[in-house]
Amino acid sequence: MRKILFLSLIIALLLAACGGSSGPVVGDAARGKKLYGQSTLGKKSAEGCVSCHHYDVPDGKDDKAPYTKGTAARSATRVPGLSAEDYIKESILKPDAYVVDKYKAGDMYQKWGEDLSAQELADLVAYLLTEK
Ligand code: HEC
Repeated sequence: MRKILFLSLIIALLLAACGGSSGPVVGDAARGKKLYGQSTLGKKSAEGCVSCHHYDVPDGKDDKAPYTKGTAARSATRVPGLSAEDYIKESILKPDAYVVDKYKAGDMYQKWGEDLSAQELADLVAYLLTEK
């Protein structure tokens, strides 16, 4: 009987540890969509994502930045070995690691890694993964 009590205590402790705040940050797509649409974003109130990324361009040509629609689908195949999620994360944190055709290194704002919280980053990634 004692043994069973002891075991359930261990299990309860393990469950508590997993649900604690030290676990991985889980992104929320709805929150990410709001952040993405803000005119300014982050600690330094830099120009927000939509100031460069338009949702869609009727003639299919990108302008200031690749358009938002289809980001998840494109991201799945941009870099061999990188999942859509990892590619999107990398594109925000290190935009120059892979530069999309027709654009130059430095065209995207470079400091999101410093400006955004881990939660904001996770929310943005969760949102962009829904734009298939
Ligand atoms: C100053 C303009 C600008 C801002 C602001 C900007 N981007 Fe970008 N972004 C670009 C450009 C230009 C590219 C393409 C060049 C490259 O690959 O770095 C790009 C590429 C991307 C890509 C890769 C798209 C693809 O099709 O491969 C993602 C994802 C992305 N940006 C997300 C974001 C998010 C999220 C934000 C806001 C936190 C943001 N960007 C803010 C200009 C910008």
